[in-house]
Amino acid sequence: MTTVHASAPGKFVILGEHAVVYGKPAIALAMDMRFSMRAHINDDFKINGAPANSYNMSPHMRYISELHGNTPISIYIEERIPSGSGLGSSAALSNAYSAAVRMLKHLPTDKESIAREAFQAEFNAQGRGSPMDTSASAQGGGIALNVPYKDEDFLWRIEKGDRAWDISKIDVPKMTFVIGNTGVKAPTGPLVEKVRKYKDSNTFARGIVDEIGTVTLEGMDAIKKNDRVKLGSLMTYDHKLLSILGVSCPQLNKLVEAALPYSYGAKLTGSGGGGCMVALTDKPEKVAEAISLHGGTPYIVKSGAPGVQVEVKTKHKH
Ligand code: PMV
Repeated sequence: MTTVHASAPGKFVILGEHAVVYGKPAIALAMDMRFSMRAHINDDFKINGAPANSYNMSPHMRYISELHGNTPISIYIEERIPSGSGLGSSAALSNAYSAAVRMLKHLPTDKESIAREAFQAEFNAQGRGSPMDTSASAQGGGIALNVPYKDEDFLWRIEKGDRAWDISKIDVPKMTFVIGNTGVKAPTGPLVEKVRKYKDSNTFARGIVDEIGTVTLEGMDAIKKNDRVKLGSLMTYDHKLLSILGVSCPQLNKLVEAALPYSYGAKLTGSGGGGCMVALTDKPEKVAEAISLHGGTPYIVKSGAPGVQVEVKTKHKH
């Protein structure tokens, strides 16, 4: 029996969420919080020793299993990322699960194959969305979508219907971010749907989505120049644009306000409606304290987290 160990990081979005669903630019970083698990082929699907059912087996896992002929697999989850928090927990789970199944079935486990499969699983489970989370988690480090890139930085292009995303890797200079979790759970699907409806029925909302794209391109420039003042102000402006699209909430606004006095800028990150905000700062302890004082849970984030990883742990002969 072969046991494999697979893990993948969560992510946070510096700029561009929601607009990226419509092919606009976005910038996301992998973070050092991971989903990790052990897996082996078994007689039945099991999760942490219990039979798999619709409560403990996510639609992402089911989809990936079906792609690979429904070979029964037992998994033991070792680490999780808080779900419904805008940190890409389902993307990390999909990447790790895809990596584990592929390894057990002797299929290629390169980042691109895993990123593509995990995106299909996310798309299948959530209906819409972009490949941002899954690609950031598969690749690790930092990625940008739909921005001009040098040939050597190009990773892969993912297409869905009439939309396409060119994904490239980016070098992010040493910057410190603090994530603040509101603790309010808000699944991604309904928020993406809310923005889609607003955008489809309203020219003003379409203008806001375009403006988020422009702000993100300016942000790329600020990252290249290591201009934290500029990047921070763009992040705060982006939070206002996302608020107009209706995806912020009082708890997120409270944490953003609390972080701003000690930050270059702050905004919600991920789908919003609850979940997390992120601040760019040189005073991470101060920001973390302000977030705690206002009811949030802070995490100080180091950039450069590795992407999806999978390895064979044990091989037993029967
Ligand atoms: O909330 P999360 O971690 O699922 O991030 C969603 C990001 C969106 O841009 C809102 C949706 C997407 O698929 O890109």
